[in-house]
Amino acid sequence: MSQKTVLAFDVYGTLIDTQGVLDALQQVMGDTAPAFSKLWREKQLEYSFRRGLMRDYVDFSVCTRHALDFACQALKQPLEEAVRNELMAVYKTLPAFPDALAGLEAAKAAGLTCYAFSNGSAAAVEGLLAHAGIRDFFAGVISVEVLQTFKPNPDVYQHLLNTAEVNAENAWLISGNPFDVLGALNHGMKTAWVKRSDEAIFDPWGPEPTIETSSIINLVNQYKQKYKK
Ligand code: LAC
Repeated sequence: MSQKTVLAFDVYGTLIDTQGVLDALQQVMGDTAPAFSKLWREKQLEYSFRRGLMRDYVDFSVCTRHALDFACQALKQPLEEAVRNELMAVYKTLPAFPDALAGLEAAKAAGLTCYAFSNGSAAAVEGLLAHAGIRDFFAGVISVEVLQTFKPNPDVYQHLLNTAEVNAENAWLISGNPFDVLGALNHGMKTAWVKRSDEAIFDPWGPEPTIETSSIINLVNQYKQKYKK
């Protein structure tokens, strides 16, 4: 296998801001929007974990939709079907985090090979990255859908290594999601945790990310310092 260094970027919560639905939610439900958005995202991930454990795979967008319906019930927001469909459409055009473009430019300038690696379907991720204007930075989009399961199943990290043709020690998972970082560490990969908010907590399980960073731009600088590149 080649000795190239691969950066595999998680998508939702790392490159793409899932809180980008807030404006749309605010228009529909006012002050309830932040709590709704948080619950929607948490349930979406919980449903993917449970689907993976149950071996009852559905497209990630189905987890997203079921989580939306749950949040409507839990927070007593009886949204009409058309409004729910509009919110799902917003999810297909979520914005990139402000540091994504410059961070990917820095990674490219440093000669690092970048992939997008996501629970989302390849089609959904292609659409998101293209809409955000960052698709061309990636050598490819790697989706869990091929394996019909979700992160953090070790098989999906191995699928990433196989597809990118890289050994675990030369492969980095870059993620804002601690569960994803722990999944990649568990599979022997290097990791960077992008701490997307001051309140974010890394699960206190013992293993720590190889690099903790506040932005993708800083990550590339920290990587270059660490490896004197
Ligand atoms: C993803 C999930 C973790 O993009 O949001 O894979």
